[in-house]
Amino acid sequence: MKIIVTADANEMSKKASELFIEEINRNSEMVLGLATGSTPVGLYNQLIEAYRAGKVDFSKVKTFNLDEYYGLATDHPASYHFFMQQNLFSHINISPENVHIPNGVSEDVERYCKEYEEMIKEAGGIDLQLLGIGENAHIGFNEPGTALGAKTQLIQLAQKTIDSNARFFLNKEDVPKKAISMGIKTIMRSRKIVLLASGEKKAQAIYNTVVGTVESSVPASVLQLHPDVVLIIDREAVALLEPKDIEIEA
Ligand code: PGA
Repeated sequence: MKIIVTADANEMSKKASELFIEEINRNSEMVLGLATGSTPVGLYNQLIEAYRAGKVDFSKVKTFNLDEYYGLATDHPASYHFFMQQNLFSHINISPENVHIPNGVSEDVERYCKEYEEMIKEAGGIDLQLLGIGENAHIGFNEPGTALGAKTQLIQLAQKTIDSNARFFLNKEDVPKKAISMGIKTIMRSRKIVLLASGEKKAQAIYNTVVGTVESSVPASVLQLHPDVVLIIDREAVALLEPKDIEIEA
């Protein structure tokens, strides 16, 4: 794991956008795996700015999002479809047919999850996967205890996740209890993975991810086994790690 430590969340977003822009400029037909939540918003803003400045072109880029709440239609304001339109897609020149986000209202979820896997395969696999991390070290919505070999599936959300995502809903009771998430195995098949984290609330999860045992109770720890992972994290999120534990690029 390569770890880049930044002063704050702004610098984290900037570093991440530089990496994304470089990768997309190297391969204009890049397949991106994208994430939602508060963490990637700064990166998405930087990518929008870069697009407006003519520094990056998304016309041939394909995207696959990590997850979607089960039961939320695409136009629900708390859905990840809505989030991605608001925070990225409506501001850049991506073709709608190249955008893929799990369908939270499919009638046959099991079949749909298999189809999502097939779509990723048909696109040639994910070249660059963006991840955030939950306070419980989930990646996507792969909660602690999810099999490390899992493919895209319907997941029961952990209470901690429901509590922490309640901020995006009018009432806590409105937070769906389930979500469709790209599986850990699917994520691990990506050629390159970039994980972003900022703030002291993520420090324990980052510590467990980087120096802990690889186990399903810490889903992100599986990233230790991937050959090309870059963590871009701010000082607060890296606070529990010691330089001797890791190779840090300051
Ligand atoms: P956050 O969520 O970016 O809103 O902190 C990250 C996650 O739960 O994966």
